Amino acid sequence: MTSEKKLKLAVIGGDGTGPEVAAEGVKVLKAVAGLEGIDYELADFDYGGDRYLKTGEVLPEGAFDELAAFDAILLGAIGHPEVAPGILERGLLLKLRFRFDQYINLRPVKLYPGVETPLAGKGPGDIDFVVVRENTEDLYAGVGGFLKKGTPDEVAMQTAVYTRKGCERCIRWAFEYTTKRNRRKRLTLVAKTNVLTFGHDLWWRTFQDVAREYPDVETDYNHVDACCMWMVKNPEYYDVIVTTNMFGDIITDLGGIIQGGMGVAAGGNINPEPGGTSMFEPMGGSAPKYTGKGVINPIATIAAVAMMLEQSGHETAAERVTRAIQLVTGTKMKSQAAGKMGYSTSEVGDLVCEAL
Ligand code: IPM
Ligand code: MN
Repeated sequence: MTSEKKLKLAVIGGDGTGPEVAAEGVKVLKAVAGLEGIDYELADFDYGGDRYLKTGEVLPEGAFDELAAFDAILLGAIGHPEVAPGILERGLLLKLRFRFDQYINLRPVKLYPGVETPLAGKGPGDIDFVVVRENTEDLYAGVGGFLKKGTPDEVAMQTAVYTRKGCERCIRWAFEYTTKRNRRKRLTLVAKTNVLTFGHDLWWRTFQDVAREYPDVETDYNHVDACCMWMVKNPEYYDVIVTTNMFGDIITDLGGIIQGGMGVAAGGNINPEPGGTSMFEPMGGSAPKYTGKGVINPIATIAAVAMMLEQSGHETAAERVTRAIQLVTGTKMKSQAAGKMGYSTSEVGDLVCEAL
């Protein structure tokens, strides 16, 4: 997409505090679009727990066609106390990721200035890497079943699915991203080849094959358990990590906490193909107990908007938002924790707008 093209953004505020943080993301988008001359169009969608309880369906027929007309979706949060776990996660979040083939889940782990990390002696210079998580396969494929369910002989199977195409496109994107990022130019494959000797062997061989096309990128391999250890001990070692869906899910929560918590961590579900619809979200949940109190941190959602701008070709605007976030965390906010920011949710949004 070029910057002359109109940026079409669908907003799904979702459940709990989702709409509150999404509103701040939209506020910052409007402000930066004005400053950078970006032509945009916004549309709100009321998908989430409340609508599901009213209508009995998570996503109505036609939702995909409608959303497919947008370049990107901004998702606040999903998770409703009256809806059984799994229904909204599978029926909305995972469905959108799969249906729009958002095969990259991009999760930067970046410690902003002024933000506290639980890692002793580490600062913003040490914690700045990116996890590229495969987003459509693995244990998330939903392949499996029960045998003799509910009996003492019950068997449950859940199969991890890995395809050459699926891992190759993710690995290649990660090499491209590492090149473009142009920092240490180091890409680490994180997997578990010593135990998952079929699926992760495919990942390993594919990684070696694709690496030959990128001689300027230094490559490395970590088993996932060792990676958890190094992320805590030597986060500065990492530049870009590429990993499978399930391991990526787990290590990015670890990444989230070392960058200051779920109030800060943002992710992008990206379909990099021309005409693809990507989805950007704060990594935190819907935090029902904080709903309507104006205490939740919108920084992660604003960072998700910056990612959306970067991925849609508006790099200058993205950098502008990122710098504004850093000014606000570094010089204004008292904490990144809900209720302890020193400002309300919408005041933080205003501060970022002023800092643009
Ligand atoms: C995430 C979440 C989701 C995932 C859940 C809600 C299905 O944990 O985005 O990391 O496992 O991918
Ligand atoms: Mn997760």
